[in-house]
Amino acid sequence: MLSIDLKGKVAFIAGIGDDQGYGWAIAKALAEAGATILIGTWTPILKIFTQSWSMGKFDESRKLSNGKLMEYAKVYALDASFDKPEDVPAEIRDNKRYQEASGYTISEVAAAIQKDFGQIDIFVHSLANGPEVKKPLLETSRNGYLAALSSSSYSFVSLIQHLGPLMPPGSSALSLTYMASERVIPGYGGGMSSAKAALESDTRVLAWEAGRKWGLRVNVISAGALRSRAARAIGFIDQMISYSEANSPLDGKELSAEEIGSAAAFLLSPLASAITGAIIYVDNGMHAMGLAPDSPSLQLQQPATV
Ligand SMILES: NC(=O)c1ccc[n+]([C@@H]2O[C@H](COP(=O)([O-])OP(=O)(O)OC[C@H]3O[C@@H](n4cnc5c(N)ncnc54)[C@H](O)[C@@H]3O)[C@@H](O)[C@H]2O)c1
Repeated sequence: MLSIDLKGKVAFIAGIGDDQGYGWAIAKALAEAGATILIGTWTPILKIFTQSWSMGKFDESRKLSNGKLMEYAKVYALDASFDKPEDVPAEIRDNKRYQEASGYTISEVAAAIQKDFGQIDIFVHSLANGPEVKKPLLETSRNGYLAALSSSSYSFVSLIQHLGPLMPPGSSALSLTYMASERVIPGYGGGMSSAKAALESDTRVLAWEAGRKWGLRVNVISAGALRSRAARAIGFIDQMISYSEANSPLDGKELSAEEIGSAAAFLLSPLASAITGAIIYVDNGMHAMGLAPDSPSLQLQQPATV
């Protein structure tokens, strides 16, 4: 029987803050396949995440098919906007939610992982942030645009720079993008569409460079709409889900986070050993559509029936 077997592999998933998002679903699929799970959680929400975990708030979502609960070997505070301690501005360092944490820049997290586990086999980047995401691109400030690129795109480049040396040949990295990189999605603003376009282009270049340097595979999943915490903050996620259900080739089917988890587990496993530099669409086929079949304009143009 062909199965995904990741026993003995160590996976670091950056960008888990609760049990609602794609990072969680990918961690769960990797745990189902037997991988050891390391988590990177955004520094200001680390405390609430670990408290919720230990209070049992995620227990229902942690259940694996064998009845056991998903465990993590370690959770690291991470702010992927910063590469080294001296990059952190005083107002962040002194912020109440950062004061108790330490070692959360990318270079420090990579050094801690090396010290704790020696090497990793899988790296997942499931994080994004655009402070001006609700603003149209035409109204986005330089700072807002660069902040979106810094935390949503360059963070992937930097994490691969720092984690690549810990990843033996045959290892695999994955990030998550959205169709707004290549088609206009009004409302996905603040430079986030630009950040996703950069992430996709970087996936190809990193596949080449990190492939030759460390034998690392680098791919990106273009995921359909999911009601995660980050997506709810954008403000129109319910409409995007209804639109997708009404117009995707898979009629009326809601996309589940587990479907992204399964595709990720495959891409991160040796079964996908010849796939690198690829954008894999896991979106019920929405990316293939050129028009919306439920548009009222199309109804008007239906030929009259006799
Ligand atoms: N939800 C969707 O509809 C959708 C669709 C396509 C792609 N995606 C992508 O999936 C990925 C995961 O997002 P999600 O929707 O599952 O939401 P999510 O809220 O579960 O995940 C986003 C995570 O990023 C973390 N984060 C933000 N800034 C950070 C920083 N500077 N350093 C470290 N962590 C930081 C947040 O704390 C959060 O845990 C993102 O790249 C997102 O763009 C989401």
